[in-house]
Amino acid sequence: MKWNQLWINARLATMVGEVPYGTIEDAAIAVHEGRITYAGPMRDLPGRMADIAHEVHDARKAWITPGLIDCHTHLVFAGNRAAEFEMRLQGRTYEEIARAGGGIMSTVRATRAATDTGLLDATRRRLEVLAGEGVTTVEIKSGYGLDAEAELRLLRTAHAAGTAANLSIVPTFLGLHALPPGVDRAAFIAEMAGPVLRQVAQEKLATAVDAFCEGIAFTPSETETFFAAANKAGLKVKLHADQLSDTSGAALAARFGALSADHLEYTNENGVLAMAKAGTVAVMLPAAFFCLRETRLPPIDLLRRHGVPMAVASDCNPGTAPMVSLLGAMAMAATLFRMTPEEILKGVTVNAARALGLDTDRGTLEAGKRADLAIWPIEHPAELSYWLGGLRPQAVIRSR
Ligand code: NIG
Ligand code: FE
Repeated sequence: MKWNQLWINARLATMVGEVPYGTIEDAAIAVHEGRITYAGPMRDLPGRMADIAHEVHDARKAWITPGLIDCHTHLVFAGNRAAEFEMRLQGRTYEEIARAGGGIMSTVRATRAATDTGLLDATRRRLEVLAGEGVTTVEIKSGYGLDAEAELRLLRTAHAAGTAANLSIVPTFLGLHALPPGVDRAAFIAEMAGPVLRQVAQEKLATAVDAFCEGIAFTPSETETFFAAANKAGLKVKLHADQLSDTSGAALAARFGALSADHLEYTNENGVLAMAKAGTVAVMLPAAFFCLRETRLPPIDLLRRHGVPMAVASDCNPGTAPMVSLLGAMAMAATLFRMTPEEILKGVTVNAARALGLDTDRGTLEAGKRADLAIWPIEHPAELSYWLGGLRPQAVIRSR
């Protein structure tokens, strides 16, 4: 069998093994029919190049990483919140604006009012911007519909945008994001955890659910009701946990075997221990931290000490992170959270894949993994979280 494509003279950040970044110098990598078939030293290639591959490319010492994975976004929305941004600059807080009927609800109104094509185009454009940064897999949450039809529409739009942009997307049903005004709490939760969830599972519109467990959103016990229903329907769970206050959200997520608990600024050590035990990934979202001028750091040292895998994501959304850039989030994770460039690159590859339950399929450069690769014009992988804008891959290979 001859491989489709082979790159030689490459430097691989495989993101597996003991050496930093899983580095292999003087390396080659081959792909065939959407899968990596070889990733290792050139000297171990099983034959002469012309005999083993149809197409041979000279990488000229460029670095090759797994395609980047943005494991937490809210990309399907319409409108913007620049007016609230100005209010926050004048001293109003995110919570005050939310309680006054703005915040998430203002995006819900704009999103419900958008046409199907308008919403699809906006989502596709954002996906294309991420793709330009070497991102090959994007998680997309619903959450700006907040009634049965509108939530299903957002998930369908996420699928359609992935197809239109030719990107792998992973949709998440964020049913408990905010309580729409005038809607009965118990009835809303019963609907999201009942018929809407069943429909999502039946149509395979999402693989996981998410909730916003917070003073301005849903209580731990409401979140538990939703998660119990999700697990019963065969869906995984993720949680916006302890973002603005400590609600023991991380421990709650862990109790349900969550794929990830995200934000975590106010998470305590018990929460970290519970995540370690459950194998729940900690998703760091420095853009929301930055935009809200948060001062409380997520417990990075505790997460390290207890061996909780950390991921990094953009959280792209119109309220707390109007940033369509994973590379931007990576730079912020270094400077704001003091994560190391290696931790950060793991956070957007191997650990991001794990946060989506996809770690056996992608996130590292190993034979058998999905052939999503980014080739970078850099001298060292630390540059991926060092440049503040301007860095782009010289080529991206996406599996179909
Ligand atoms: O990840 N915290 C809840 N959800 C988003 C913000 C949503 C919004 O403000 O529109 C977040 O920060
Ligand atoms: Fe979020």
